[in-house]
This record gives sequence, C-alpha cells and structure tokens, in this order.
Amino acid sequence: MKIIKTINELRQWRKTVDSVAFVPTMGNLHAGHLALVREAHQHAENVVVSVFVNPLQFGQGEDFAAYPRTLQADAEKLQNAGVAVLFAPDDKELYPNTTQAFNVEPSALQNELEGKFRPGHFRGVATVVLKLFNIVEPQIACFGKKDFQQLVVIQQMVAELNVNINIVPVDTGRADDGLALSSRNGYLTETERQQAPQLYAVLCNMKDELQKGRRDFSQLEQQAVEKLNNQGWQTDYVEIRRRSDLAHARPDDNQLIILAAAKLGKPRLIDNVEVDLS
Ligand code: PAF
Repeated sequence: MKIIKTINELRQWRKTVDSVAFVPTMGNLHAGHLALVREAHQHAENVVVSVFVNPLQFGQGEDFAAYPRTLQADAEKLQNAGVAVLFAPDDKELYPNTTQAFNVEPSALQNELEGKFRPGHFRGVATVVLKLFNIVEPQIACFGKKDFQQLVVIQQMVAELNVNINIVPVDTGRADDGLALSSRNGYLTETERQQAPQLYAVLCNMKDELQKGRRDFSQLEQQAVEKLNNQGWQTDYVEIRRRSDLAHARPDDNQLIILAAAKLGKPRLIDNVEVDLS
C-alpha cells in the first residue's frame, strides 16, 4: 500500500490505474470503516481511502482539536484490508489559502436535523468531498448509512452537479449490543458505554410501533424524546422522515427513516433506523 500525502503524487499514481473505488474517512478506523473498504473492493480493482480530519465541517466548540488522529494504526488496518493507496494530506495541502472562498452549498436540507445543531457542517462536508472526488477521480465512492443525512447530501450533490461517480451506501456497523460503531464512541466513559445502546433500542421500538400501524408521527417522536431524556440523555432530535430525500414524512409514505441525535454526558451520538412499510 502506498501512503500518499500530496495531491500531485496522488494524481501521478491515478494516471497509472483505471478502476478506482474511494472511501473518504476522517481516520480512527473501526470495523464500520473496514466494511466500507470491503464493499469498495466489490466495485473496483483499486481502493483508495482518504484520512483527513476536515476543519471545515467542525463548528466552534466542536471536537476538531480533540478528534482522534491515529494514522499509523489506520495505515496498518488499511494495509491488511488490501487498500492500494492511503491518501493522507495535511490541512495546508487541501486548504492552502487561509479561507476556503468557494464552497459547495447544499440544499435547504443542510439546515435541518444535524444541520440545525451543526450550522455549516454539511457545507464543509460537501466541499471537502467534492475536492477529494476531483483529486481521486474514482468511479464509485462508499458512504456509511450511519451518517444518513450526509449520504443524502452527497447523493444530491453528485446528481445536481453532474458528478460522474456512483455513490454506494453501506449499512451501519453495530456492536453486539446494537450501538452504532463510531469514532466518537471512544469519548464514552465505561458507564456511558453501557447505557449507549438505549438510543438504538428507542429507535427500534418506534419502528415496531410504525409497523403495528401507528402513524401519529409527532407523538411517537415526542414519546421517544421523553423516554431518552428520562434515561438521562439530552436529546437534540428524534424525527421520522421520508427516506429518499429526508422530507417530513406523510402518513402514506412507506419508505421511512427515523433519525436521532442525543448527548449522553459530553459525547453526542447519532443513529438511525430504516422502516419499510410497503
Ligand atoms: O463521514 C466522514 O467521516 C466525513 O464526514 C467525510 C465524508 C470523510 C468528509 O470529511
């Protein structure tokens, strides 16, 4: 596996191969990322993984400085996973100017759900992903469904800007007790880690209620928020949305998704559960 740190070197390597699948990450790789790499191998001869903690997508007071940077351990995992290139640029390489003047402006969806609590986050994500796409020039790119809103923003970006890359969604990796795998799980204390699967359990319970026929979405959402808050969480949102575009769900929609974000102590976790009512 090559470890490449500059855009120039990546472009030189890219000229030597045809078929490339891409997995963008912020590093601190876990089994969920490795599932993305396995999926990428199904689609192309060469898999490129980027590791870059993107300052543009972190707001003030968020964990940019504290975000775990574990490049050496990441490189070992990627080498074992048969990756052709690990692209690990530094901040200056991707953002040589002090400000990023040109940005990708996602649709109004960027201000809902996660975007309501993380202003500017999806502009930062879309901008770095388009930059990485322009550098790596893959035919396909894999994105985890755990960050479902991010997946939809990227799908909308490639559709509306005619980016010729096939976006492949990959199911969320989970621990045995249901907790969605995330680099941020490392922030949980031992007690919080025990409690953390409650978020997924509450979403699964809502899914059961929907499958039994309930369509009182607001009440279901409110009950879930109360349940989490009574268990000691500080819930930012629990919302039932239409899966294809994350519009507000209507009672006759049958492909739904329940999305949630909540804090357990300091760490903030997100998760979602897909619901098929057809
Ligand atoms: O999902 C992530 O890890 C990041 O948002 C991404 C897609 C690598 C962009 O920085």
